[in-house]
Parts: sequence; C-alpha cells; structure tokens
Amino acid sequence: MAFSSIVLAIDNGIATITFNRPKALNALNNELLAEFGRALDEITPDEAIRTLILTGAGEKAFIAGADITELATFNALQAKAFSQTGHAAINRLMELPIPVIAAVNGYALGGGSEMALACDFIYASTNAMFGLPEISLGLIPGFGGTQRLPRLIGRNRAKEMIFTGKMISADEAERIGLVNRVCRPEVLLEEVQKTARSIATKGKVSLRAAKQAVNAGVDTDLTTGCRIEIDAFALCMASEDAKEGTRAFLEKRPPQFKGPLK
Ligand code: CAA
Repeated sequence: MAFSSIVLAIDNGIATITFNRPKALNALNNELLAEFGRALDEITPDEAIRTLILTGAGEKAFIAGADITELATFNALQAKAFSQTGHAAINRLMELPIPVIAAVNGYALGGGSEMALACDFIYASTNAMFGLPEISLGLIPGFGGTQRLPRLIGRNRAKEMIFTGKMISADEAERIGLVNRVCRPEVLLEEVQKTARSIATKGKVSLRAAKQAVNAGVDTDLTTGCRIEIDAFALCMASEDAKEGTRAFLEKRPPQFKGPLK
C-alpha cells in the first residue's frame, strides 16, 4: 500500500514505520494518523512479523508533536475528534500482539512523546529531547500523556514536565526510567534492530502473553495482576512453542519456535 506521510518497511520479520514529514519535523496530522492506522492494519494479521520499530525521518526529530498548523484551526469538537483519533491510533500499539520499540532519533514532543510512551520500550539517540510542551500552547497533552507519563516516571515528575512544558535530554530520560538505552545517533537504529532481532527469535505466543500480562497488570492491583499472569502462563503451556522450548532445553539445542496457536 502506498503511503505519503509514513514509510512502512518489512524485513526478515521486523516491521519499521518511519514517520515521514521531515520538513514539519514529522508532526502528526490527521492524514499521517490515518496512514499509521492503515499500516497497523497491514502489520497486525501478518504472522511473519515479530517486532515493530517506530522512528522518524531526518536527523532532527522522532515527532515534534501534533501538527500545530492543523491544530490551530480546530474548534472544541474538532479537537475532541482529533484527540480521540490520536488515542485510538496510539492505543493500538499497546494492543498489538508483537513488541513495539521506539527508536527516538531527535525531538519527541507532545504527541511524539505520547507515541513513544505507548511503545513497549524506548531507545533514544544522544541528541533526543523529550517533552510535553502543550501547556505553552494553552493546551494539555491530548494523546495520553497525562495518563501514561505518570504511570511510567511517577506522578510528581510527570506533573513537573507537564506544568513547565520543559524538555528533558535523553540522558535525563534514561535516568528517570523513560528511556531504556541511549545510543549515538549513527548506531541507534542498528541497536534497536539488534534487540528486535533477538526478541524475534522468541516464541510469538509467549511474547504476546508477556506483553498482555504486563500491560494489564500495571493498571490493576497485585492480586488481580498475579491472576492474569497465572492464566497467561497456563495458556502459554498449551502452545507448540512451550513444548518446543522445554524439549529443546532438555535436548541441549536451541529452540525453533513456530508461532501462534492454531
Ligand atoms: N507542528 C507543525 N509544524 C512544526 C511542528 C509542529 N508540532 N514542529 C516543528 N514544525 C515545523 C516548524 O514550523 C518549521 O517549519 P518551517 O520551516 O516551515 O518554518 C519546521 O518544522 C522546523 O522547525 P523549527 O524551525 O521550529 O526548528 P527548531 O530547530 O528551531 O525548533 C522545535 C525545533 C523545538 C521542535 C520547535 O519546532 C518546536 O517547538 N515545535 C513545536 C513543538 C510542540 O509544541 N509540540 C506539541 C504540539 S501539540 C500536541 O502534540 C498535542 C497533543 O498532545 C496531541
């Protein structure tokens, strides 16, 4: 399928979506969000795809937020529809049955930080900057930032970022647990691909179960979370992958995971 605001590449079981509006620092508009949704429609049923990477075109930005040119024309109802569209698109990353890694290669502001926050984890280049600057536009984050950021870095650190609109560096983002790893810009994608390839060798059923258990568990109490884990663990045991993984260990050979439950 042809896209103009994103690029979708699939190579050896690893899909990469590149946000591709470099002249506007990859800002998110309705057209880009629609294309992003169509790319996820293509990726979701494809059993051969094992991980998804998100990154930005150009050297300056992952995504510099929602497109302010478009945003400036909205009335309240249009803003609500745009926010709902953004939430729907971004929520799909959490629901995707495969791991999603953000390769943040520059500014990740507003909706850009929010897109990265919905990924399973983030690697960032040394020149990356994270922030929720909506307050300086007389707005608040509209794609999940007021909810996902406090859950990840804690309520008070999140409030400081949201109330001041100030950006933080990649190193600071790593220090407070927003980013897993900081890499030199020229090796960022390579490092993310390396991790994606390593994950791609694991069983698809157990990866999906692990992602769902962690995501469902962090939004509930410990007892409920542990029940979710028990059921997911049992379900994994019914898969061919679990039979293969345990057999391979006992036979002292690497496992050959086949994938989903039929
Ligand atoms: N929307 C539209 N265009 C944008 C943009 C955005 N979010 N961010 C940058 N651009 C455009 C600039 O207008 C500029 O275009 P022109 O060359 O046509 O003038 C081009 O990208 C390059 O940007 P700058 O010249 O500003 O580059 P810089 O290096 O001086 O600054 C920056 C970079 C700090 C990221 C600055 O561009 C900036 O502050 N951008 C806006 C960030 C922002 O406020 N994001 C939040 C948006 S609201 C939101 O995201 C709501 C939500 O939760 C969904």
